[in-house]
Amino acid sequence: MADSLQISTGEVTAELPITEGAVRATGLAVVETDRGPLASYDPGFVNTAACRSSITYIDGDAGILEHRGYPIEELAEKSSFLEVAYLLSNGELPTATQLADWEYQVNRHRLVHENVYDIIKSFRYDAHPMAKLMASVVSQMTFYPSSRRIAEPELRELNAFRLLGKMPTLAAATFRHSIGRHPVYPSDELGYVENFLAMLFQSQQRVWRSDPRLTRALEVLFILHADHEQNCSTTAVRTVASSGNDVYTAAAAGIGALFGPLHGGANEAVLKMLREIGSLDRVPEFIQGVKNGRGRLMGFGHRVYKNYDPRAKVIKQAVDDVFEVRGMNPLLDIAVELEKIALNDDYFVSRKLYPNVDFYSGLIYEALNFPSEMFTVLFAVPRTAGWIAHWTEQLTDPDQRIIRPKQLYTGYERRTYVPMEDR
Ligand code: CMC
Repeated sequence: MADSLQISTGEVTAELPITEGAVRATGLAVVETDRGPLASYDPGFVNTAACRSSITYIDGDAGILEHRGYPIEELAEKSSFLEVAYLLSNGELPTATQLADWEYQVNRHRLVHENVYDIIKSFRYDAHPMAKLMASVVSQMTFYPSSRRIAEPELRELNAFRLLGKMPTLAAATFRHSIGRHPVYPSDELGYVENFLAMLFQSQQRVWRSDPRLTRALEVLFILHADHEQNCSTTAVRTVASSGNDVYTAAAAGIGALFGPLHGGANEAVLKMLREIGSLDRVPEFIQGVKNGRGRLMGFGHRVYKNYDPRAKVIKQAVDDVFEVRGMNPLLDIAVELEKIALNDDYFVSRKLYPNVDFYSGLIYEALNFPSEMFTVLFAVPRTAGWIAHWTEQLTDPDQRIIRPKQLYTGYERRTYVPMEDR
């Protein structure tokens, strides 16, 4: 194995040590170019590590995802969502006492200030819930101004609890607003996921209970979405954290990044795509269209996984459980057929395009009665656990500085200003 990289230009020879599988990009600067010290150019950060992190490990070629060393498959089978949130932030699985205390600390912060409901109400009835979520999350900073004191560990922790506790309340309130219903207050009787479902769907019943199989299916989806190392939204969170921001402001940036159809918005796009295809006999024509450059097969492909996304495997099992309770959805047949054809087609095989977490999750959300605009919100709620862990890691890592990438300037050289009358 190489332990250093030698660069030689005729004038300079330098040896860059390889540590943790990487060279330090600043080491390249020993070489002078016509544009100044040598830099690396890497749009999309395809081969550039922006941080060191001990939270999540992914081997994209092997289809492995682990949080703090524990495989995602085992966590999805054996843990609760709040247990995984604890693991992400604290590095170890909690004991029973630690978990009970963690659940208490999170759940006691579920209530939000009444003015937050006014913020949500001020949006038009058809506003996308992600916009309402983003606004209501960032507003929390103004209700808790001491959250800006990010150098104080107790305040960092307190506001992390607040955010994790309030996230389902805010998410549910965005939904209730869009269906013209009064928000439902959190209930101390219910656990994190069941309470979320109650705040969404309770109508007139005094106590709202969901089918435990459906609650567990949503809990599994929460676990699968809790963290995914340096994805686009986590990178947005870290970037905003790097200039010295509180957890609410950083999470709001994460929500914005997640909203895009290439990231968290993909599950909404998958359902739209399945509806447009409409019937099994139109699947081959659709696949041909994708191959001819007419759109993408949404829910397929991943920057990191060049193999089946391990989360997609777990979700496929959850699909069966949910459809057993709720009955079949004909769109599932279309999804299965798309997967079958794509996995045997050279276009997808040669580009290593496999189903990702979003390919089946939308079908589950729909079976749980969520409208498609809520799908990305259902991603944002659990991803908050990961954002919090990365926000803390970013702020406490002595290596970190304000994130400020270089650019390769491609514009004009200096020129003479042209007065308005001469343009
Ligand atoms: N359908 C058809 N072709 C595709 C797809 C797709 N879904 N994804 C990638 N390709 C092709 C792409 O056209 C390119 O082909 P060529 O080399 O001929 O130009 C090649 O595969 C490489 O694609 P890329 O865009 O350079 O890959 P990327 O790593 O920049 O993008 C991705 C990753 C997830 C944005 C992309 O695969 C995609 O757009 N997938 C569909 C959207 C989606 O499902 N997103 C959810 C991601 S999982 C949730 C999350 O973690 O956020």
